[in-house]
Amino acid sequence: MKQLRRRSTLVATGAAAALLLIPAAVAFANGSGGSDTSLRALGSKQGLRIGTAVDAARLGGDKGYTDIVAGQFSTVTAENAMKWESVEPSRGVYDWTAADQLVRFARQHGQAVRGHTLMWHNQLPSWLTTGVANGSISDAQLRDILHRHVTDEVTHFKGKVWQWDVVNEVFANSWETPQADGLNADDFWIKHLGSGIVGDVFRWAHKADPKALLMYNDYNITGEDGTNAKFQAVYDFVRNLREQGVPIDGIGEQGHLDTQYGFDAQRYQADLQAFGDLGLKVAVTEADVRTFVDNPTDQVPTDSLAQYAQPYEFSELLKGCELVKQCISFTVWGVYDGDSWIPGTFGGEGYGLLYDVNLKPKTAYSTLQQDLRLAAGAPRHTNG
Ligand code: G3I
Repeated sequence: MKQLRRRSTLVATGAAAALLLIPAAVAFANGSGGSDTSLRALGSKQGLRIGTAVDAARLGGDKGYTDIVAGQFSTVTAENAMKWESVEPSRGVYDWTAADQLVRFARQHGQAVRGHTLMWHNQLPSWLTTGVANGSISDAQLRDILHRHVTDEVTHFKGKVWQWDVVNEVFANSWETPQADGLNADDFWIKHLGSGIVGDVFRWAHKADPKALLMYNDYNITGEDGTNAKFQAVYDFVRNLREQGVPIDGIGEQGHLDTQYGFDAQRYQADLQAFGDLGLKVAVTEADVRTFVDNPTDQVPTDSLAQYAQPYEFSELLKGCELVKQCISFTVWGVYDGDSWIPGTFGGEGYGLLYDVNLKPKTAYSTLQQDLRLAAGAPRHTNG
């Protein structure tokens, strides 16, 4: 109890201090006098969309979840519903049901849609991977099938998707084998179709919806793994694409962090800015900050310092985006810890999101709220 009381005093003191820092005109403009303090409302004060990845199947049925998605966020990404295995489970048979539902929801709630993702080695339909593995789909046919997939999906959502993650995760990580151009030699698409496929997919997507913003999306591209090699590879490759006239509009920095590794926020911001200086937009597309927890159900951090490190790193991620004028959106990869990919992928870890397993906002939520409040009135975003 003593600790609880002490904590709420700290929170109250912090909020008061924050208010003192806000000039009166800004405090009025951002509604800190008592109006809308949702993340989306606060983000709009600087033209920055705040987003979440959404499990489309939960919308509507799960009221607590749905209210948070609608009330807190101004952009949504389909966590899985727009991936190839979801939209074309059998060859030639499309199923847009879940993705269309999300797009309708977004329209009803004034949200912009991030389309995710057109070319990725993961979550491919089994008819495709099986056909390639058994030789019944040749590389030439694979290229045609990919062309049709990109064209059909972007056409289906034409005018309804704000940003597309056109190509996802094709660069080599520090533990993988890079080609001379930095692409992952073992990536499914690069292995079968070569480096030139990257530019082609952007061209195909642009042809199908010339107004959508077309992004390259990846993780560890702003020094998160302790080296800047992957950033440099993406930077050089994308600069080259731009010089060739390939219609690429921006970079999606996923932003998957883990408190055990620390985070070089200056490096991150400098790398985002370098992409921006190339004439690209940038977006933080999949932010989460995981840590070790007691069990996957409760997800209570086992290290007491994690309750400070987790919101701190979230805050650094957001502030880096706020400080780079080309950063147009900040998306968190999931709504709450009970529905996050983290425990299923990283044994013993969790607690990565803004809401806990019971859909209650965590310190990371109020920290981001405060960061947005303090930056309100800085209209530097182009948003589109
Ligand atoms: O759809 C099946 C369902 O039929 C089955 O009953 C269930 C049983 O496990 O699995 C369901 O599929 C799961 C799917 O999510 C939909 O829930 C897969 O097993 C599971 O592997 C898949 O995980 C997704 C993961 O991508 C796949 O790589 C995560 O939800 C999703 O958050 C994650 O997102 C990726 C981004 O797309 C790209 N960047 C990294 C990020 C995290 O891995």
